[in-house]
Amino acid sequence: MRVWFNGKLLDDPTAGVVRVDDHGLTVGDGVFESLKVVDGRPFALTRHLDRLAASAAGLGLPAPDADEVRRAVDEVLAGVDLPLGRLRITFTGGPAPMGSGRGGGPGTLVVAVDSLAPAEATTAVVRVPWVRNERSALAGLKTTSYGENVVALAKARESGASEAIFANTIGNLCEGTGSNVSYVVGGVVRTPSLASGCLAGVTRALLLEWCDVVEVDEPISVLDEAEEVFLVSTTRDVQGVHRVDDRALEAPGPITRKLQETWAARAAESVDP
Ligand SMILES: Cc1ncc(COP(=O)(O)O)c(C=O)c1O
Repeated sequence: MRVWFNGKLLDDPTAGVVRVDDHGLTVGDGVFESLKVVDGRPFALTRHLDRLAASAAGLGLPAPDADEVRRAVDEVLAGVDLPLGRLRITFTGGPAPMGSGRGGGPGTLVVAVDSLAPAEATTAVVRVPWVRNERSALAGLKTTSYGENVVALAKARESGASEAIFANTIGNLCEGTGSNVSYVVGGVVRTPSLASGCLAGVTRALLLEWCDVVEVDEPISVLDEAEEVFLVSTTRDVQGVHRVDDRALEAPGPITRKLQETWAARAAESVDP
C-alpha cells in the first residue's frame, strides 16, 4: 500500500496520522471514491472526481481541490508497478468537536493505493431485510457512513454470497453494498433508476452509454423471475450472478456475456491519460 496524506506521501503507509477528532472518524462525515488502477493508470478518474465533488456537495462539505487530488493520484502511483490496483480517495470534514457539528477547519484528504485481486468470474448474492432509504439526506452519495453496507455484506458472507442486495423503502430493487445490479427479463436488460436511491455507479453509467439497458423501478421480487442477473462495479466490472438466495441461474448468461464483451472492448477508452 502507498498512501498520500494531506500533502505528502507517507514513509510508513500504516502510520497513525488521522487525528482522533477527525469528523470522518468520529461520525462518518466524509466522502470517498474507489477507482480501479489498470497497468498503473487510474480508470475513469474524471468521472470519479466529479462524483466525489457531487457527494461532498450533497453532504455540505466543500469539494476537495480536484487539481490537488489529481497531483496526489499521480504521486501515489508514480513508479508503482501495478497491473491491477484499487485506489481510494477519502475526503473528510477534518478535526471537529466530538458531536455532529462540524469544526469548520480544513478537511482531511487521503489517497491510498493497493493491489487488487481480480473478481471471481461469477458470484452469489442474497437479498437482505434492511432497506435503502431513497429519501435519506445521504441517498445516492458515496459517504464514509457505510455502516449499513458493512452489516449487510457480513450477512451475505455468512450465507456464502459475495454481495447483499437491498430493496428501497417502497420495496423496489435498489443496489448492492458496493455494486449496482442489473437483470434480464424477456431478453431486455434492466437496471434500477437513480430514483431508487442507488449510487450513480461509474460502471453502471458507462454500461448505459455503451449498451441497450433500460432503467426500470420495480419490486425486488423481479429477481425471482429474471432470466439473468449481474452486478456492475469498479472492482467487479460486469459479473454474472449464479445464485440469488436459493435460486440458481446460468452465469454469465448469454446476454451478460455479450455485455462483458462490449465492456472489455470499450473499457480501455475510459482509462484517463
Ligand atoms: C453503494 C454502491 N453502489 C454501487 C457502486 C458501484 O459504483 P462504481 O461502478 O462507481 O464502482 C458502489 C461502488 O463502490 C457502491 O458503493
